[in-house]
Amino acid sequence: MIRVAIIGAGIGAEYLTGYRALPERFQVAVMCDLDAARAETATGGDPDIAISGDLEAVLADASIDLVDICLPPHLHFPVAVQALEAGKHVICEKPIVRSLDEADRLQAAAEASGKSVFPVFQYRYGRAIAQLKALQAAGLAGKPYVASLETHWNRDADYYAVPWRGTWAGESGGALLGHAIHAHDILCHVLGPVAEVTALTDTRVNDIETEDCAALALRMENGALATSSVTLGAGEDTTRLRFCFAGLTAESGSAPYAPAQDAWRFIARAPVTQAEVDAVLEEAPHRHAGFAGYLDAVADALEGRGGNEVTLADGRRSIELVTAIYQSVQDRGPKLLPVSSESAFYRGWIPDQP
Ligand SMILES: NC(=O)c1ccc[n+]([C@@H]2O[C@H](COP(=O)([O-])OP(=O)(O)OC[C@H]3O[C@@H](n4cnc5c(N)ncnc54)[C@H](O)[C@@H]3O)[C@@H](O)[C@H]2O)c1
Repeated sequence: MIRVAIIGAGIGAEYLTGYRALPERFQVAVMCDLDAARAETATGGDPDIAISGDLEAVLADASIDLVDICLPPHLHFPVAVQALEAGKHVICEKPIVRSLDEADRLQAAAEASGKSVFPVFQYRYGRAIAQLKALQAAGLAGKPYVASLETHWNRDADYYAVPWRGTWAGESGGALLGHAIHAHDILCHVLGPVAEVTALTDTRVNDIETEDCAALALRMENGALATSSVTLGAGEDTTRLRFCFAGLTAESGSAPYAPAQDAWRFIARAPVTQAEVDAVLEEAPHRHAGFAGYLDAVADALEGRGGNEVTLADGRRSIELVTAIYQSVQDRGPKLLPVSSESAFYRGWIPDQP
């Protein structure tokens, strides 16, 4: 049984639902937030979950194995390092850190502590992505040609009333860092790393510092081409993903926050037959979805049966892509990955004068 402290009772409340779906694996012992009433509401008054406003005391509690950081982005790196130094395993919300330099220092801290850090990309977990991965593993997808991604969500002034949001200092980025990062993780989960990106961004929807619209063109290391369209000014929230391979096309529905749990179409392309595709879809292994699926994979990894978890390398890869994207925006041109530690952007992308 892994004993957990959740730090931050906003999205932290959704984790609690995920942990409760896995009662044989996790026990949430503490909900920690500076806002005690918010923490209390998040637990629904559960008498088995202690409420705390004292992060230091939570980290000093020897009975806690895993600290789940659901704090605003500027606190991710310092609190994750603090938790590792206190001997805890760490789950940390996206964006895991605010630069490649921080990513590498976090990796060093994890190695020094002997503990694990799991960045969060729960959108990957669900039957449809498991099916797509199974089709790839079975050799039916074949050569990847193109992918198209849409993160078209709606966020208004109420959403940006939370002070850290929409600011370079508090959020470290806009829709590319905070929202489309999930679709971009799925892109890399399916097709591997990005080799080149050209990005256009603008702030067209809300009165904020950071971008809320973007158009990206990407070349993957495996040669596939991808496009990503992002806005926070859509009429309704939709996420749509489409992958065209030599042997099939995989197409999501439009469920915004759980694309892997949506009903996808997998359309065979000759000489691959629909019967071959359907046989793999039927057999694709799948346990839990969303946060529960993510946490199930974390528990497997902590028990020495890893392979399906989000790794720190995956988190670093997401930060490397964001770095190259903002570099492309600021330099107005295509950028090649990987980003070197000699790059001016290695220590961050936040513009001096936004
Ligand atoms: N994975 C996802 O789908 C998803 C969805 C939403 C948010 N997020 C991420 O989760 C993080 C938190 O987002 P949110 O929307 O829940 O933010 P939020 O501002 O609503 O909640 C953060 C909470 O942290 C608390 N807090 C701040 N400093 C603290 C401290 N020192 N000790 C204890 N508590 C402290 C605040 O009181 C607040 O209740 C962000 O990084 C965001 O990007 C991820």
